[in-house]
Amino acid sequence: MADSLKIDFQPFGDLEGGDLVIFVGETLKPSSAVAKRLGHPAASLLAKAAAAEKFTGKSKAVMTIPVPAGIQADRLIVVGIGGEKDLEKIDYPQLGGVVGAKVAGRAATLVLDLPGVNPSPENVADLVMGARLRAYHFDRYKTKKDDKKPGGPTKLTLQVADPAATKKAHKLRDGVASGVLLARDLVNEPPNVLGPKEFAARAEALSKLGVEVEILHEKAMEKLGMRALLAVGQGSSRGSRVAIMRWNGGKSSDAPIAFVGKGVVFDSGGISIKPGGGMEDMKGDMAGAASVVGLMHALASRKAKVNVVGAIGLVENMPDGNAQRPGDIVTTMSGQTIEIINTDAEGRLVLADLLWYVQDRFKPTFMINLATLTGAILVALAQEYAGLFSNNDELAERLSVAGRETGERVWRMPLGPEFDKMIESKFADMKNAAGRYGGSSTAAALLQRFVNDVPWAHLDIAGTAMSSPQTETNKGWASGWGVRLLDRLVHDHYER
Ligand code: BES
Ligand code: MN
Ligand code: ZN
Repeated sequence: MADSLKIDFQPFGDLEGGDLVIFVGETLKPSSAVAKRLGHPAASLLAKAAAAEKFTGKSKAVMTIPVPAGIQADRLIVVGIGGEKDLEKIDYPQLGGVVGAKVAGRAATLVLDLPGVNPSPENVADLVMGARLRAYHFDRYKTKKDDKKPGGPTKLTLQVADPAATKKAHKLRDGVASGVLLARDLVNEPPNVLGPKEFAARAEALSKLGVEVEILHEKAMEKLGMRALLAVGQGSSRGSRVAIMRWNGGKSSDAPIAFVGKGVVFDSGGISIKPGGGMEDMKGDMAGAASVVGLMHALASRKAKVNVVGAIGLVENMPDGNAQRPGDIVTTMSGQTIEIINTDAEGRLVLADLLWYVQDRFKPTFMINLATLTGAILVALAQEYAGLFSNNDELAERLSVAGRETGERVWRMPLGPEFDKMIESKFADMKNAAGRYGGSSTAAALLQRFVNDVPWAHLDIAGTAMSSPQTETNKGWASGWGVRLLDRLVHDHYER
């Protein structure tokens, strides 16, 4: 949902009223630019207030102190950065979240001269991104205003060492933040509003940024032989779609990189229907597709120098007289057959055809798919890590590093012949569901049968994309997980 955050960058200088936000470490000593603004008794003022408030300057702690006469500000807000040597770049979005929450609906000046640290333009851009992610809330369907939420825009004036460079870094980072918020919006939308067709229309809107978008309807998919994907949607009164998004920021002779998303707009389980409790959460079963759209938005808005393909499979899994049954056998686009054991194991069917199609048509340098694929990944990794499955150690390692740097962390899980054996079928080439054990790995093993020699990674985001734990940068249900991770991966390794 549109947020209203106004951002301005200035050199260190005079204050203009509004809130004054400063940062201190565990020594509680203000930096020189801050001390200059606060005047002579600054250090003793902070020390006294900290003692009274039991504020130790630990990372992300906040205290508000009344403003002494002579200081041009409404409130003085002091934010802790912890041990001054401990501040890492991953902390900046979190600090931005803390500040964003504190000054929501107000005007504030942040003095970004940190004691012992000189934040780079990228650090400041990360901080602003954190404030923006924190400011997001999804209230499109609330007809009454929440009195506890601040009204009106938030205005942040950032006093920094190099305003021009910071503004530039911010512009690049802001496109990524918009991509995250776009993904969150899509995941939060109710399933009656966002069917396959409506989702495809949201993908098409990326053409405003120069992304080429192509929508496949059922006839075209039929012709291509995507019987597994179509079988999932056949119980729904709403037709299935595939959206192909292309960002051509590289040389026309460069092979693209590819991202593939599971977009089950609602997963009832189909004939193998799910229990009623919590079924409403299955509106989020298109989070993989949402992150691919968010990523394309991010890459296009910062004009990434790389060719990228984003492909999403948009279907609704419903029980109906025309729905697929357990026992059905479907022939995939690759020619391999799958026996349907459980119609609730539908995501892998969608991805089987889509991965094959993308690899066949685009010959990408790598493919990464995102999918809310298994409940079992929550058993293994809770909501802390996404499950990472890959046939390529280099790609896996790069994803792990990008995960640590963005805080969207992944944990590598096993693939292998043991798991592949578990999906053998009595009647077809494979079955779509095995026993309870190793549920995330048997799902991944099925996907791998549709990947040839291309480096590939599968991210199981059932735990990280929705029902999200509350953090300083997200207080909502959907997280937009994966946009920042993959933007970082592309930025660090695949742009020319
Ligand atoms: N969309 C679900 C997985 C899921 C569960 C996502 C919880 C988010 C939160 C998926 O389609 C599914 O139903 N998987 C089954 C597979 C089983 C039938 C083999 C599961 O995990 O139980
Ligand atoms: Mn399912
Ligand atoms: Zn599903």
